[in-house]
Amino acid sequence: MIQSRNPARWSEVVAEFPEAGPSEVEAAVSAAREAWPSWRKTPAPRRAEVLHRAADRIAAEKEDLARLMTREMGKVLLEARGDVQEAVDMLLFIAGEGRRLYGETTPSELPDKFAMTVRDPVGVCACITPWNFPVAIPSWKIAPALVAGNTVVFKPAEDAPAVGQRFADILCGCGLPPGVLNVVHGGASTGAALVRHPGVDLVSFTGSTEVGREVAIACADQFKRVSLEMGGKNAIIVMDDADLALAVDGAVWGAFGTAGQRCTASSRLIVHRRVYEEFANRLVERARALRLGDGLEESTDVGPLVNAAQLERVHSYREIGKREGARVACGGEPAREPPLDAGWFYRPTVFLDVEPGMRIAQEEIFGPTTCVIPADDLEEAIEIANGVPYGLSSALYTRDVGRAFRALRDLRTGIVYVNSPTIGAEVHLPFGGTRRTGNGHREGAHVLDAFTEWKTLYVDYSGRLQRAQIDQ
Ligand code: UN1
Repeated sequence: MIQSRNPARWSEVVAEFPEAGPSEVEAAVSAAREAWPSWRKTPAPRRAEVLHRAADRIAAEKEDLARLMTREMGKVLLEARGDVQEAVDMLLFIAGEGRRLYGETTPSELPDKFAMTVRDPVGVCACITPWNFPVAIPSWKIAPALVAGNTVVFKPAEDAPAVGQRFADILCGCGLPPGVLNVVHGGASTGAALVRHPGVDLVSFTGSTEVGREVAIACADQFKRVSLEMGGKNAIIVMDDADLALAVDGAVWGAFGTAGQRCTASSRLIVHRRVYEEFANRLVERARALRLGDGLEESTDVGPLVNAAQLERVHSYREIGKREGARVACGGEPAREPPLDAGWFYRPTVFLDVEPGMRIAQEEIFGPTTCVIPADDLEEAIEIANGVPYGLSSALYTRDVGRAFRALRDLRTGIVYVNSPTIGAEVHLPFGGTRRTGNGHREGAHVLDAFTEWKTLYVDYSGRLQRAQIDQ
């Protein structure tokens, strides 16, 4: 069994699920394979109706889902509601594809011949998702997979199985035929069995870069299609002409929202030397004032980390940062007083005087910590921002339109924001990153490129053999 516990009060068991071993994975994949031929031929507008209904149902159950999410993975209720809303938005956006799924028509070079393209589903898709957006991210993958005519085996994160199961139950209850969407629970070994199963045609994975690499290698071995969405080390650049109050608001939200457990978290703040001290002072003051607590309480600003291992990992960076010469201006320790000692709470942490090459400025920490790095001008700030292995999101605070456009051109991330932090992507635009963040795919807009194959169709109605490139 895998146990899901409340990270704010670890003694509370939220749910238990049987861990899927090889035979359950086998059963799920064969159910998906069997269901595929008929789902593939179901008209796409009919497939989309299921997503429409699910969007309505999830919207109606938003509060229940959000509460379950908070109990299971800790994020504050306000954000849990946002997570559920993101799934509603995605289901509606993708449901619209049921009446689009456009292909192209184009003239043939030969007479009496027609040429066009259609999107073809790929087959059985394994959707493997993390615990930090346990309803939104499954919707990013499962909705497009289904509307395009694929069937799915979904493995929710082992730290958020109950809310993942609930999401899948709602979809199934909205008219999916048996076998079209299947759920397996478990951790690394269940995931590995799924990824390696020869009956799986495509893997869509969101999680760490280390695991993503293993997924990619396993998929390469079997020539499977694979879409990866992995780590980030996202920077906000604050220029000397920025609205500082706005920039501090953005930094606090970007760095400490979801307790920093977002791949889009603002984990680096690159600040122009002229405003460095003032920005740092204001930021530290705000970080100190954030209230830690159970995410179900409306007064809480920052919830717990998801589990003990994450807490350990985040805390290990305090020593790493100090050894490298950074200054811990606030936080840097778990909260040990009751009732916070019953869960995995970590104090919002600001590292000051950080050099761009330090490990704390290069590695994804995935917790409520951020690094403040000084820079002399925009060019240097952009170079620092780009100088990490990841490329998900970046942001610039300035009032100068020329600086804004230079940054939009030169920041090498999949997403760039001006005058707002690195988090807060909307579902109908492409989501994904460059370099070690991804492997070239996008979710949201253009996600169908990941879940379909282009099929090119030629119809020759001339009644004679016509040879392309040869008959002029
Ligand atoms: C993630 O952190 O894994 O842009 C996803 C955002 C959210 C999605 C985050 N809409 O921060």
